[in-house]
Amino acid sequence: MNSSVAFGPGKVILLGEHAVVYGYPAIAAALPLGVYAHVEPAECCRICIPGNLDEKQSALLQQAFEQAAECVGRPPISVRLEACLPMSAGLGSSAAVSTACAKALAMAAFPGKERALWLEKAAEMALCMEKVFHGSPSGVDHTTSLHETLLWFCRGEATPLSCPVPLNILVSMAGKRASTQSVVAQLRERRQRWPGHHERLFEEIGRCVEEARVAIEAGDLALLGELMNVNHGLLSAMQLDSENLTRRVHRLRAAGALGAKLTGAGGEGGAVVGLFENPEAALEVLRAEGLHCFSCRLASPEML
Ligand code: PMV
Repeated sequence: MNSSVAFGPGKVILLGEHAVVYGYPAIAAALPLGVYAHVEPAECCRICIPGNLDEKQSALLQQAFEQAAECVGRPPISVRLEACLPMSAGLGSSAAVSTACAKALAMAAFPGKERALWLEKAAEMALCMEKVFHGSPSGVDHTTSLHETLLWFCRGEATPLSCPVPLNILVSMAGKRASTQSVVAQLRERRQRWPGHHERLFEEIGRCVEEARVAIEAGDLALLGELMNVNHGLLSAMQLDSENLTRRVHRLRAAGALGAKLTGAGGEGGAVVGLFENPEAALEVLRAEGLHCFSCRLASPEML
């Protein structure tokens, strides 16, 4: 085989993070930023561990890659990763790594095969890697990364969503945060201790996600933004936000966002997402204030 490159996009969850772990739906979209897996023919199947990873992260990546490679008979390739996405920041970086590696392995193991065939195998490998990174992920991150579009996700099933108007977002980075696994584990403990109100909050998030699907398909951005605001409030009620995140959420709203919320696991840092009709002016202002942010138009199925 020749040299090749596989891309695993990062993702943004518009609504439904955390509740999605308990079987409620979520709406997520792939980002234009992500992780590239550069593939070269080699004597044996191997991954070059990036030098910036600590010992624990290196061991996890090695273990995750080995397990995925075993699924497809260890094709003789060498994989080198290049990350063009903020890592461990709520934008699905581990899923982007998993997807890039899984695509690289699947393309090497099934050369010339139809996309549908190797995509199925890549999904299996990406999930296998995500389990090494996160324990018991909902699957929304790697599924969004593999589909590379806006989608509805519930209990492992994904449906691409179309929106008749452009969906423009602005993402503001909020610095270091705890791992997804530990934020999810802490919420699980609180839910076990106080199941009643947690279930009510999850149900309400589920309802917001359902209404958001209708809003997206109708192109009703005002309603979608409102539902994102409500979703942030519900995540906040579950202690998943922080002063740092909520300050940024309010800043995005003041800068003209139709709605804004934390995205991903939340906690101390990570990322917040705002929905904008036109994010360019806000982007300029926020960057001038020193905030680390970027904007993009979300890819929906008709754009692929
Ligand atoms: O913060 P991230 O990018 O790892 O996203 C986590 C999303 C959760 O819903 C909190 C966990 C999951 O498995 O879906």
